[in-house]
Amino acid sequence: MEHVDLAILGAGAAGLFCAGLSLAQGRRVVVLDHAARPGDKIRISGGGRCNFTNMAAAPDRFISANPRFAASALARFSPADFVALVDRAGIAWHEKTQGQLFCDGKATQITGMLLDRMRGADLRLGCALGEVRHIGDRFRIDTGQGPISAARVVVATGGKSIPKMGATGYGYEVARAFGLRCLETRPGLVPLSFAEQDLALCRPLAGLSVEAAIAHGGAAFRDALLFTHRGISGPVILQISSFWQPGEALRIDLAPDLDIAAALKAARGKAGRVGLATTLSRHLPERLAQHVVAELGLPDARLADQPNAVLEAVGARVNRWHLRPVGTEGYRTAEVTLGGIDTRDLDARSMEARTVPGLHFIGECVDVTGWLGGYNFQWAWASADAAGRAA
Ligand code: FDA
Repeated sequence: MEHVDLAILGAGAAGLFCAGLSLAQGRRVVVLDHAARPGDKIRISGGGRCNFTNMAAAPDRFISANPRFAASALARFSPADFVALVDRAGIAWHEKTQGQLFCDGKATQITGMLLDRMRGADLRLGCALGEVRHIGDRFRIDTGQGPISAARVVVATGGKSIPKMGATGYGYEVARAFGLRCLETRPGLVPLSFAEQDLALCRPLAGLSVEAAIAHGGAAFRDALLFTHRGISGPVILQISSFWQPGEALRIDLAPDLDIAAALKAARGKAGRVGLATTLSRHLPERLAQHVVAELGLPDARLADQPNAVLEAVGARVNRWHLRPVGTEGYRTAEVTLGGIDTRDLDARSMEARTVPGLHFIGECVDVTGWLGGYNFQWAWASADAAGRAA
């Protein structure tokens, strides 16, 4: 049987980065993945430009049953540490917004950098993974290319998001087989789906983007909301989807800087002969303004004729739009998987299983999920760094 110091299961963001670190410490490293290409999710990330980190990465930007778990790894490997590597590799980047760093060129530059750093490791693609067993002080990994004996194993097989790209629940199965607890998983950063009556309201606005604010489940986001033929989407919806539970309603503010009812009342006092829709369109995109007044049965209403109750209804429709999603698009389109391997069973400094010395879990399979905006890659790098130093 083939013997290595370290077997890394999964050649995604976390696995590739961990391989480079372990190799630098002189270990014999094998990286195994059933996919045909390494780092497939990096390739499609950030619209092809990879939002590879976020300068604001801190534990409060992550969702976990134990919000402090990520603190140690995030403190020891910061966004600036990753940026230094990106700079050293000569990859040009820019900050888009809110601390989000993207490549100027292609996301594959990041994969290229990770592969360069792990040159010397044995990368085996198209390799099916089977059972992992602890035999004596080593691990035996059954693979489609024969068994491997490893002194240490790092599981970096990600979450369940986008099964079409090879995502599986393999990491959770390995964890369970070794007696680790797993928290229920669910799709995160995922488009929400809506009932037909809500879709009918949204469809005429398809293609329109507005800045919106949503507070829900203890989180608050302000970002772009996009009306689509399938309902509403955009960054603010993806963000809040990670905090939304089935059955809950959302309250969306489509004009976060303005109390619309108050603005309409003030305008009525000055130029009441103007149409309601015209006045509203001074504060909202015209299509949205027209749509709101039509929906409330006031398409040709003059501002002067409207009592306070009507203007308050218009204000409520814009500043406090109630919508009850019926579900999410699921793992098919989710960017991440919430939940996963229970952090109570892992050492926060090394990502090692507390009861199984030599077995580490990193990246998305662990119950640490970032907000939208480069946080999930930063977790992949930071957790890989923690395990890479130890393993
Ligand atoms: P990752 O999923 O990257 O890698 C897991 C690897 O394990 C894969 O190569 C897979 O083939 C392999 N594997 C799984 N099961 C296996 C099995 N049974 N046998 C063998 N191999 C197996 N984040 C961010 O910070 N910025 C961004 O711009 C984006 N953009 C983005 C866009 C889209 C469309 C998606 C789907 C996701 C993002 N993300 C993101 C999230 C980010 O891609 C994700 O958090 C990281 O890739 C997680 O890294 P991991 O290495 O943990 O898993």
